[in-house]
Amino acid sequence: MSILEIKNVSKLFGPNAEQGVKLLEQGWTKEKMAKEKQITVGVNRVNMEINQGEIFVIMGLSGSGKSTLVRMFNRLIEPTSGEILVHGKDLRKMNKEQLRNARRKTISMVFQKFALFPHRTVLENVEYGLEIQKVAKAQRREKAITSLELVGLKGWGDKMPDELSGGMQQRVGLARALANDPEVLLMDEAFSALDPLIRRDMQDELLELQDKMKKTIIFITHDLDEALRIGDRIALMKDGAVVQIGTPEEIMIQPANSYVERFVEDVDLSKVLTAAHVMRRPETITLDRGPRVALELMRERGISNLFVIDRSKKLLGIITAEDAATAVRQQQKLDDILIKDVPYVAPERMLNDLFELVSTAKLPVAVVDERERLTGVIVRGALLGALAGGVENEEVALNA
Ligand SMILES: Nc1ncnc2c1ncn2[C@@H]1O[C@H](COP(=O)(O)OP(=O)(O)OP(=O)(O)O)[C@@H](O)[C@H]1O
Ligand SMILES: [Mg+2]
Repeated sequence: MSILEIKNVSKLFGPNAEQGVKLLEQGWTKEKMAKEKQITVGVNRVNMEINQGEIFVIMGLSGSGKSTLVRMFNRLIEPTSGEILVHGKDLRKMNKEQLRNARRKTISMVFQKFALFPHRTVLENVEYGLEIQKVAKAQRREKAITSLELVGLKGWGDKMPDELSGGMQQRVGLARALANDPEVLLMDEAFSALDPLIRRDMQDELLELQDKMKKTIIFITHDLDEALRIGDRIALMKDGAVVQIGTPEEIMIQPANSYVERFVEDVDLSKVLTAAHVMRRPETITLDRGPRVALELMRERGISNLFVIDRSKKLLGIITAEDAATAVRQQQKLDDILIKDVPYVAPERMLNDLFELVSTAKLPVAVVDERERLTGVIVRGALLGALAGGVENEEVALNA
């Protein structure tokens, strides 16, 4: 279901901007518009639908219009033309009060410069948004503490911002946005100021957070690796216009034109890397355990299925949390709910041969060696992450 619908939205800067929209429709380019009309095209007739619960990445080179576009999503910038529908309601037709409500409850923004108040403690910084909404003190404390915990900063509330590293400060910025409990988080280059390793940690954490909270996240980056790692879908922009919208796989495999092709060509590692390079350690259980134990293991690890192996690590099948829950109720054994038909590949399988299987499989894809032993599992995120440049499982890579 879409939460945000962007219809034919343009933003032009300069004299006679409205007239400029007509010229865009006649096919004028950004360059021509600048030269002949002194109008800068910020955003050029963009259409997109953002679905509830997805991480939607907007990517493009500097000046391609990313920031201008998302600032229109909460009307920090007024569109020149087009419609911005939030839950079907046009943001441009809202009065001040309605708009303020939408900004608080629906769409919250995390800025690149974390903009923390230096003389307030971390906790007071996180509370800020609730404070200006006049939420009662005890209640906002509680919410702030919870959201600090969510970003992994439990116990840091009493520190001052300058006692925290850059990465931690960014987390505080994120916690502040989360404290409002908005439906949509807008993150404009939120991780760009961080050094690469911390940046990756933050990406992982954002994925985890999203998994837990099912927020809709609109994430801007000019970094393809980042886009491929975290995006459910990616919109690629050029000169204010959208060039392609698709899943990371679609962008990689079916680039819409030569511009996208050039954008992604450097990351074509799919012909070099194998399943062994990207597989993760699988979570397993043996068949002699009961469904109750299986459920507990899944709960503890935050996963929704478990591979079943025998004592020699031979793969027998997989069980799902749903089936295990039913089995507990109906006093069945693991054997009764075992799904034997598990998608699997050999460790030597090339990544470009894996895409289709991984993206269409309903169950996790197992990696099974020539002796039928389970050696790994292919996680979609890790697969794409590796294609974006980094090998996830260095130990395996060294031995492969
Ligand atoms: N207030 C403004 N007045 C005039 N032109 C503007 C204004 N804001 C943005 N622009 C122009 O609009 C275009 C898009 O800018 P925008 O900041 O949205 O790009 P971006 O993709 O976010 O770039 P970056 O990656 O550098 O942040 C650029 O050509 C920019 O010069
Ligand atoms: Mg920008």
